[in-house]
Amino acid sequence: MNNLETYKKDFLNYLNSTILVKEPVGLYQPIKYILEIGGKRLRPILTLMICDLYGTNYNKAFDAALAIEVFHNFTLAHDDIMDNALIRRGKETVHEKWDVNTGILSGDAMLILAYQCFESFEPELYKELMLLFNRTAMEVCEGQQWDIEFENRNNVSISEYLKMITLKTSVLLASAMKMGAIIAKVNGNELEAIYNFGLNLGIAFQLQDDYLDTFGNSKDFGKQIGGDITENKKTFLFLKTLEVAGDDEKSRLLNLYSSKKKSAQKIEEVTNIFKNNNIEQYTLNKIKFFTEKAFEYVNDLNLPDEKKTTLKNFGISLMNRSV
Ligand code: IPE
Ligand code: IPE
Ligand code: MG
Ligand code: MG
Ligand code: MG
Repeated sequence: MNNLETYKKDFLNYLNSTILVKEPVGLYQPIKYILEIGGKRLRPILTLMICDLYGTNYNKAFDAALAIEVFHNFTLAHDDIMDNALIRRGKETVHEKWDVNTGILSGDAMLILAYQCFESFEPELYKELMLLFNRTAMEVCEGQQWDIEFENRNNVSISEYLKMITLKTSVLLASAMKMGAIIAKVNGNELEAIYNFGLNLGIAFQLQDDYLDTFGNSKDFGKQIGGDITENKKTFLFLKTLEVAGDDEKSRLLNLYSSKKKSAQKIEEVTNIFKNNNIEQYTLNKIKFFTEKAFEYVNDLNLPDEKKTTLKNFGISLMNRSV
């Protein structure tokens, strides 16, 4: 078993022994459900890996890793309501399996559970982790709000998009890593370099998510392909197409994006417009650009080369994912 698999296995054991179903089961069952139907466990793996790479027993980071994963799953439960998503990780979304109220309240409870995870840390560490967590959690809400507002705007710029995905997605990856480093008592510039590594990797990660939402296959990806198109999401794919397409295709695309009616034909037509404009390649180049930018921060870390390679290999594996 390689280290990544070990982190994942140990994390899952910890999760399963900590998150229990109690009364009222209507509140806790959906929490257990979303936490158990899978997921890559990327963020907790990053927390544990960073802690380990800096020479601290990664068991000390379990509660922070769990807090981040529970918070992530809270955002997913609410995100699926906001995005009208029916499938997540190849299974029914919480609000689809139960109902919207269950999705809201179980989500709220997961946010509180995430906070409770930090209670085990000694006061100084608790405070440092909490400050980072609070700032991050608020930024995720800001990003989610921009994402939703952009659905109804036709003048979103690529730089606004990058800001939005930094908030909704990257800051959580960056914080997951930084928490591992904080627990390992890393300080100063090193912490910032780790955070910036995570931030850029997170941008690449969300670009890849947008890419897979259109060009992936639903069996691997576990979500409905074309969901972003149905919801008129201002993804990089859409924004870049507006930049490079001719006038005819541009107005056809804007016209297709003027309704939210669920239609296989809309998904097909928009996908074809993306393809005609070589958007797959533009997106993959952008993913590579941000992954490489992330690696520049790894080069600056005060770690032996073999550990830097471990971090870069992780980044490369993300770039090649279909899940
Ligand atoms: C999905 O995150 C939400 C995004 C930020 C793109 P993941 O792709 O990490 O989802 P799971 O946890 O592996 O299912
Ligand atoms: C995810 O954005 C961001 C958060 C959940 C905070 P998406 O809406 O693209 O995530 P998926 O594709 O539904 O997982
Ligand atoms: Mg969303
Ligand atoms: Mg979504
Ligand atoms: Mg998505």
